[in-house]
Amino acid sequence: MKLFIDTGNLKEVEALAQIGILDGATTNPSLLAKESADPRHILTQICALVNGPVSAEVVATDYAGMVREGRDLAGINEHIVIKVPFTKDGVRACKTLADEGHRVNVTLIFSATQAWLAAKVGAAYVSPFVGRLDDIGTTGMTLIREIVDIFDNAEFPTEVLVASVRSPIHVIEAARMGADVVTAPASVIEQCFKHPLTDIGLERFLKDWEKAQAARV
Ligand code: E4P
Repeated sequence: MKLFIDTGNLKEVEALAQIGILDGATTNPSLLAKESADPRHILTQICALVNGPVSAEVVATDYAGMVREGRDLAGINEHIVIKVPFTKDGVRACKTLADEGHRVNVTLIFSATQAWLAAKVGAAYVSPFVGRLDDIGTTGMTLIREIVDIFDNAEFPTEVLVASVRSPIHVIEAARMGADVVTAPASVIEQCFKHPLTDIGLERFLKDWEKAQAARV
Protein backbone atom coordinates (compact mmCIF):
# COMPACT_ATOMS: atom_id res chain seq x y z
CA MET A 1 0.00 0.00 0.00
CA LYS A 2 1.32 3.43 -0.92
CA LEU A 3 1.56 6.23 1.64
CA PHE A 4 0.62 9.79 0.72
CA ILE A 5 0.76 12.79 3.03
CA ASP A 6 -2.43 14.85 3.27
CA THR A 7 -1.29 18.44 3.75
CA GLY A 8 -0.53 21.80 2.18
CA ASN A 9 2.35 22.42 4.55
CA LEU A 10 5.80 22.25 2.95
CA LYS A 11 7.68 21.73 6.22
CA GLU A 12 5.57 18.66 6.98
CA VAL A 13 6.17 17.25 3.51
CA GLU A 14 9.90 17.94 3.69
CA ALA A 15 10.34 16.33 7.11
CA LEU A 16 8.69 13.07 6.08
CA ALA A 17 9.88 12.98 2.46
CA GLN A 18 13.51 13.05 3.55
CA ILE A 19 12.99 9.81 5.47
CA GLY A 20 11.96 8.20 2.19
CA ILE A 21 8.49 6.97 3.23
CA LEU A 22 6.25 9.14 1.03
CA ASP A 23 4.92 7.94 -2.32
CA GLY A 24 2.85 11.04 -3.02
CA ALA A 25 0.63 13.72 -1.51
CA THR A 26 -2.91 15.00 -1.46
CA THR A 27 -4.10 18.55 -0.88
CA ASN A 28 -7.52 20.14 -0.77
CA PRO A 29 -8.74 23.76 -0.78
CA SER A 30 -9.08 23.82 3.04
CA LEU A 31 -5.50 22.60 3.53
CA LEU A 32 -4.03 25.08 1.01
CA ALA A 33 -6.10 27.93 2.48
CA LYS A 34 -4.27 27.46 5.80
CA GLU A 35 -0.94 28.34 4.17
CA SER A 36 0.24 31.86 3.37
CA ALA A 37 2.29 30.96 0.26
CA ASP A 38 0.86 30.94 -3.26
CA PRO A 39 -0.96 27.59 -3.84
CA ARG A 40 0.75 27.00 -7.20
CA HIS A 41 4.15 27.49 -5.58
CA ILE A 42 3.20 25.06 -2.80
CA LEU A 43 2.02 22.45 -5.31
CA THR A 44 5.21 22.79 -7.37
CA GLN A 45 7.35 22.36 -4.26
CA ILE A 46 5.37 19.35 -3.03
CA CYS A 47 5.81 17.70 -6.44
CA ALA A 48 9.57 18.16 -6.20
CA LEU A 49 9.70 16.85 -2.62
CA VAL A 50 7.64 13.70 -3.04
CA ASN A 51 8.50 12.98 -6.68
CA GLY A 52 5.16 11.19 -7.05
CA PRO A 53 1.45 11.88 -7.55
CA VAL A 54 0.18 15.11 -5.94
CA SER A 55 -3.56 15.74 -5.94
CA ALA A 56 -4.65 19.33 -6.56
CA GLU A 57 -8.34 20.10 -6.32
CA VAL A 58 -10.46 22.27 -8.57
CA VAL A 59 -12.69 24.85 -6.90
CA ALA A 60 -15.05 25.35 -9.85
CA THR A 61 -18.33 23.48 -9.43
CA ASP A 62 -19.59 23.49 -13.01
CA TYR A 63 -18.43 21.04 -15.67
CA ALA A 64 -16.72 23.56 -17.98
CA GLY A 65 -15.02 25.32 -15.08
CA MET A 66 -13.72 22.06 -13.62
CA VAL A 67 -12.31 20.95 -16.96
CA ARG A 68 -10.66 24.33 -17.53
CA GLU A 69 -9.22 24.46 -14.03
CA GLY A 70 -8.17 20.81 -14.15
CA ARG A 71 -6.18 21.31 -17.35
CA ASP A 72 -4.55 24.38 -15.82
CA LEU A 73 -3.60 22.51 -12.61
CA ALA A 74 -2.18 19.63 -14.66
CA GLY A 75 0.10 22.15 -16.38
CA ILE A 76 1.85 22.96 -13.08
CA ASN A 77 3.83 19.73 -12.98
CA GLU A 78 3.76 16.24 -14.50
CA HIS A 79 3.04 14.80 -11.02
CA ILE A 80 -0.23 16.69 -10.57
CA VAL A 81 -3.37 14.57 -10.29
CA ILE A 82 -6.54 16.60 -10.87
CA LYS A 83 -8.94 16.26 -7.96
CA VAL A 84 -12.65 16.80 -8.63
CA PRO A 85 -15.53 16.49 -6.19
CA PHE A 86 -18.07 13.73 -6.65
CA THR A 87 -20.97 15.58 -8.26
CA LYS A 88 -22.62 14.94 -11.63
CA ASP A 89 -20.50 17.75 -13.10
CA GLY A 90 -17.44 16.30 -11.36
CA VAL A 91 -18.02 12.84 -12.82
CA ARG A 92 -18.55 14.34 -16.27
CA ALA A 93 -15.37 16.41 -15.91
CA CYS A 94 -13.52 13.30 -14.74
CA LYS A 95 -14.53 11.48 -17.94
CA THR A 96 -13.41 14.35 -20.17
CA LEU A 97 -10.10 14.83 -18.36
CA ALA A 98 -9.39 11.08 -18.15
CA ASP A 99 -10.17 10.68 -21.88
CA GLU A 100 -7.56 13.39 -22.52
CA GLY A 101 -5.00 11.33 -20.62
CA HIS A 102 -5.06 13.20 -17.30
CA ARG A 103 -5.07 11.36 -13.98
CA VAL A 104 -8.14 12.27 -11.94
CA ASN A 105 -8.84 11.73 -8.25
CA VAL A 106 -12.57 11.81 -7.48
CA THR A 107 -12.93 13.06 -3.94
CA LEU A 108 -15.66 13.31 -1.30
CA ILE A 109 -16.69 9.69 -1.83
CA PHE A 110 -19.07 8.45 0.86
CA SER A 111 -20.74 5.44 -0.78
CA ALA A 112 -19.82 2.42 -2.87
CA THR A 113 -22.10 3.54 -5.72
CA GLN A 114 -20.23 6.84 -5.92
CA ALA A 115 -16.89 5.01 -6.09
CA TRP A 116 -18.24 2.66 -8.77
CA LEU A 117 -19.52 5.54 -10.94
CA ALA A 118 -16.20 7.38 -10.66
CA ALA A 119 -14.30 4.23 -11.64
CA LYS A 120 -16.61 3.68 -14.63
CA VAL A 121 -15.61 7.05 -16.11
CA GLY A 122 -11.90 6.38 -15.73
CA ALA A 123 -10.88 7.93 -12.40
CA ALA A 124 -7.28 7.07 -11.54
CA TYR A 125 -8.18 7.30 -7.83
CA VAL A 126 -11.29 7.46 -5.69
CA SER A 127 -11.03 9.06 -2.27
CA PRO A 128 -13.47 7.64 0.29
CA PHE A 129 -13.45 9.73 3.50
CA VAL A 130 -13.37 7.25 6.38
CA GLY A 131 -12.94 9.70 9.28
CA ARG A 132 -15.90 11.83 8.28
CA LEU A 133 -18.07 8.69 8.09
CA ASP A 134 -16.89 7.69 11.58
CA ASP A 135 -17.78 11.22 12.73
CA ILE A 136 -21.45 10.67 11.86
CA GLY A 137 -21.62 7.37 13.76
CA THR A 138 -20.99 4.91 10.92
CA THR A 139 -17.93 2.73 10.29
CA GLY A 140 -15.89 4.35 7.55
CA MET A 141 -13.68 1.33 6.99
CA THR A 142 -16.69 -0.81 5.99
CA LEU A 143 -16.91 1.34 2.88
CA ILE A 144 -13.28 0.59 2.02
CA ARG A 145 -13.93 -3.16 2.16
CA GLU A 146 -16.94 -2.74 -0.18
CA ILE A 147 -15.06 -0.60 -2.70
CA VAL A 148 -12.02 -2.91 -2.76
CA ASP A 149 -14.34 -5.91 -3.42
CA ILE A 150 -16.25 -4.10 -6.17
CA PHE A 151 -13.09 -2.90 -7.93
CA ASP A 152 -11.56 -6.39 -7.70
CA ASN A 153 -14.70 -7.99 -9.17
CA ALA A 154 -14.92 -5.46 -11.99
CA GLU A 155 -11.14 -5.44 -12.52
CA PHE A 156 -11.19 -1.63 -12.45
CA PRO A 157 -7.68 -0.15 -12.59
CA THR A 158 -8.89 2.73 -10.36
CA GLU A 159 -6.94 2.92 -7.10
CA VAL A 160 -8.69 3.08 -3.75
CA LEU A 161 -7.15 6.04 -1.90
CA VAL A 162 -8.26 5.99 1.73
CA ALA A 163 -8.74 9.59 2.91
CA SER A 164 -9.86 11.48 6.00
CA VAL A 165 -7.61 9.27 8.07
CA ARG A 166 -7.56 9.99 11.78
CA SER A 167 -5.38 7.28 13.36
CA PRO A 168 -2.81 4.53 12.71
CA ILE A 169 -5.69 2.05 13.07
CA HIS A 170 -7.21 3.44 9.87
CA VAL A 171 -3.82 3.00 8.18
CA ILE A 172 -3.43 -0.63 9.23
CA GLU A 173 -7.02 -1.56 8.43
CA ALA A 174 -6.65 0.02 4.98
CA ALA A 175 -3.54 -2.08 4.33
CA ARG A 176 -5.23 -5.27 5.56
CA MET A 177 -8.27 -4.64 3.34
CA GLY A 178 -6.13 -4.24 0.23
CA ALA A 179 -6.52 -0.50 -0.35
CA ASP A 180 -4.00 0.87 -2.85
CA VAL A 181 -3.14 4.11 -1.08
CA VAL A 182 -3.67 5.75 2.28
CA THR A 183 -3.33 9.51 2.62
CA ALA A 184 -2.72 10.65 6.17
CA PRO A 185 -1.97 13.92 7.94
CA ALA A 186 1.59 14.32 9.24
CA SER A 187 0.37 13.82 12.83
CA VAL A 188 -0.95 10.34 12.02
CA ILE A 189 2.21 9.39 10.11
CA GLU A 190 4.26 10.53 13.14
CA GLN A 191 2.10 8.30 15.37
CA CYS A 192 2.86 5.32 13.10
CA PHE A 193 6.53 5.62 14.09
CA LYS A 194 5.95 5.55 17.81
CA HIS A 195 6.05 2.69 20.29
CA PRO A 196 7.07 3.19 23.93
CA LEU A 197 8.90 -0.16 24.00
CA THR A 198 11.13 1.01 21.14
CA ASP A 199 12.12 4.12 23.15
CA ILE A 200 12.64 2.13 26.37
CA GLY A 201 14.57 -0.56 24.51
CA LEU A 202 16.91 1.92 22.84
CA GLU A 203 17.52 3.77 26.10
CA ARG A 204 18.46 0.47 27.79
CA PHE A 205 20.80 -0.59 24.94
CA LEU A 206 22.63 2.75 25.12
CA LYS A 207 22.89 2.72 28.93
CA ASP A 208 24.30 -0.83 28.93
CA TRP A 209 26.79 0.17 26.24
CA GLU A 210 27.93 3.24 28.18
CA LYS A 211 28.27 1.18 31.38
CA ALA A 212 30.46 -1.36 29.59
CA GLN A 213 32.60 1.38 28.05
CA ALA A 214 33.09 3.04 31.45
CA ALA A 215 34.09 -0.30 33.03
CA ARG A 216 36.79 -0.79 30.35
CA VAL A 217 38.69 2.42 31.21
C1 E4P B 1 -8.28 13.82 1.05
O1 E4P B 1 -7.72 13.94 0.00
C2 E4P B 1 -8.69 14.95 1.91
O2 E4P B 1 -7.76 15.99 1.72
C3 E4P B 1 -8.67 14.66 3.37
O3 E4P B 1 -8.23 13.35 3.65
C4 E4P B 1 -9.82 15.16 4.17
O4 E4P B 1 -9.65 14.79 5.50
P1 E4P B 1 -10.44 15.46 6.71
O5 E4P B 1 -11.76 14.78 6.83
O6 E4P B 1 -9.59 15.20 7.91
O7 E4P B 1 -10.57 16.92 6.40
